[in-house]
Amino acid sequence: VNNGLALTPPMGWLTWERFRCNTDCTNDPDNCISENLIKAMADHIVADGYKDVGYEYVCIDDCWPTKERGPDGRLVPDPDRFPSGMKALADYVHGKGLKLGIYEDFGHYTCGGYPGSEFYLKTDAQTFADWGIDLLKFDTCNSNHEDFTYGFPAMEFFLNQTGRPILFSCEWPHGESSSNFSAIRDTCNIWRTGADVQDSWDSVFGIIDFYANNKDNFSYYSGPGGWADPDMLVVGDFGLSYEQERTQFGMWAMFASPLLMSVDLRNIRNESKALLQNKNILAINQDPMGKQATLKMKMEDDNIYVFTRPLTNNRIAAAFVNKNNNGMPTRLTIKGSDVGLSNQNGYNVVDGFTAQSMGSFLPTSDIVVNVNPSGIVLFVATPK
Ligand code: DGJ
Repeated sequence: VNNGLALTPPMGWLTWERFRCNTDCTNDPDNCISENLIKAMADHIVADGYKDVGYEYVCIDDCWPTKERGPDGRLVPDPDRFPSGMKALADYVHGKGLKLGIYEDFGHYTCGGYPGSEFYLKTDAQTFADWGIDLLKFDTCNSNHEDFTYGFPAMEFFLNQTGRPILFSCEWPHGESSSNFSAIRDTCNIWRTGADVQDSWDSVFGIIDFYANNKDNFSYYSGPGGWADPDMLVVGDFGLSYEQERTQFGMWAMFASPLLMSVDLRNIRNESKALLQNKNILAINQDPMGKQATLKMKMEDDNIYVFTRPLTNNRIAAAFVNKNNNGMPTRLTIKGSDVGLSNQNGYNVVDGFTAQSMGSFLPTSDIVVNVNPSGIVLFVATPK
């Protein structure tokens, strides 16, 4: 949507994949959805260098309010878990130079059974603006899917009317293949393309595979102001190997995806933290042209997926993903022209993660890459 926000893919942190709907602050005070959790993450985003490389939005997902609206019809943050209230939490987060995101649902109830925005779109938009909220994730549980086409634009209208810039993160289309992507792009700053990410290689590769099919041509609609969202990064959690973390992070950069971490920043492994802060990969993700990568070809019995995306200054990024999670690295030879290197003077090619030179190549040159099991090789080619 054209509201001046998300000119490059938004970056931040979101509770859901790692902390879910944990509301048990009595027995699990450090991990329940609460102001303490949000403050702790905001503290780490600043103190541990995430803010310096661009992570900005600290976002609360489902399960934050009380089960009933207040007498004025407004949503009420759970007083045990958010005793200071949302305005105070927003002030805290803003005081750190960050932004605060919140969650609601278009339907009668949220997926977690909390009050939804049905019949309260205007009230909720105003409440969020009054609190100083900077991002709204808007879900689709317990709603009528035929209503998306007017409901999401209506919510964007009410958000806009508050006068506060609020980044609009839509669950529309969420797997509805017949969706009107041009309307979605006109309404949302980011839109979820498919199923919820889980903390596993199957899930992460499944999303990469879904993007490879690009069934709804959403790469066409993704760009400055509106981005297709493959869901959160699970880098640093429990389910991915280091190779798989590199693959998720590298491909989310190739896809010009929002980068919303969902990880416990209090005890993340150093190698995962360094990956999430890899400036070379972040520069690909944040490339101002904002062109989402598309599948160029599959190789080796469809076990290797090759994606390319154009970058500013006529550069090209190419990524090779190995679907196979066992055995030995796959050694491939391609021609420069296979991945779109067409400049007759050739290219300087560097590794996308390390920026180390991989050599100089012509369109007719052979390029050899070794792709680890469930790993990625990503390079950036700059024309001479
Ligand atoms: C479904 C969404 O896809 C998830 O990202 C999360 O927001 C949950 N709902 C919360 O209930």
